[in-house]
Amino acid sequence: MMETVAYYNGKISEVADMMVPLTDRGMLFGDGIYEATMAQHQTIFALAEHLVRFKQNLAAVMITPTWTDETLTNLLYDLLSRVDNESYMVYWQATRGTGPRQHHFPTNAKPNLMVMITPMSMSRERQTRAYQVRSELDVRSGLADIKTINLLPNVLAAQRAQAEGVDETIFYRLDANHQEIVTEGSKTNVHFIKAGQLITAPLDQRILPGIAREHLLTVAQRLGISVVERYFTITELKQADEVFITSSTLMAGRVQQIDHEPVGYQDEQHFKQLQTQLLAEWEAETN
Ligand code: PDD
Repeated sequence: MMETVAYYNGKISEVADMMVPLTDRGMLFGDGIYEATMAQHQTIFALAEHLVRFKQNLAAVMITPTWTDETLTNLLYDLLSRVDNESYMVYWQATRGTGPRQHHFPTNAKPNLMVMITPMSMSRERQTRAYQVRSELDVRSGLADIKTINLLPNVLAAQRAQAEGVDETIFYRLDANHQEIVTEGSKTNVHFIKAGQLITAPLDQRILPGIAREHLLTVAQRLGISVVERYFTITELKQADEVFITSSTLMAGRVQQIDHEPVGYQDEQHFKQLQTQLLAEWEAETN
C-alpha cells in the first residue's frame, strides 16, 4: 500500500516524489482546472457530479480532454486502490499543457493530467467545531464560477484568515447602493438560516457552483426546509439564526463568529438536520 498517490501523465509515485516540468502552464499561468472530493472504503463521493463540472469547466476555458469520463473514472479508481480503506482527499487537475512561456495557447497543446490522493478525514472535530470567519472585499471578477487552479485571491484571503487566527474568509462585493453582498468563502460556499428558511447565494459568475451546496439544497427540500436563492448582505448574516459554510471536503461547518462578532447558534435543530443528512449521504455512498 502507498501512503499517498500522485499521478502525472502516466507516471505514478508518492506525492512527495512527483516532479512536473517547469513549462507546464499550470506552473506558469495557473492555466488549468481542478476538482476535489473525498473518498473512503475505495469509493469516491459524488464522482459523477465532479466529472460533469470538470468537463464543463475544461470546455469553458477551451482545454480539450484526451480522456473520457470512463477512462478518468477508471484511472481514479486504479489510483485509489493503491491506498488503504481509510478516507482521502481525491484531487485532480488538468492544465492546458506544456509549452514556451507565451500567454496565448501553444499550438497543438496536449493537456497535462495530474491526480493527488492524500489522507483526510471527515473527523468529528471538523464537523463539530465552531467556525470563525472574517469578511473582506471580493477582488475577483467574472470567472469565479470556473474551478480554475489560478487561486491567488483565494490563497491571500485564506492566509489573512490564518494570520488572524480564524478559519475562513468570506468575500463580499459592493452593489450600486454600497451594500456588502456576500459571494462565497475563499474555499467554501456560504449559507444561512433565518426563520426556518435556508438562504444561499444564486449561481452566477461570482461564485463556484459547489457540489456540497447542491447536495445541501436537495437535502433541505427533502427535509421540507424551504430554500431561497438570492443575494444577501453581511449584515443579514450577522442577524441570521444560523450561518454555515459548505465544501466537498467539509460538508457543513457551523459558523459562530464573523469579524469577531458572535453570530448564529440560534436554530440548532435545522442546522443539525441539514448537517446530519449531508453526512448520512456521504456515509451511505462510501460505506
Ligand atoms: N474548495 N467556493 C470555492 C472558492 C471553493 O474553492 C470551493 C471548494 C467551494 C465549494 O465547492 P464544493 O462544494 O464543490 O467543494 C466553493 C475545494 C474543496 C478546495 O479548493 O479544496
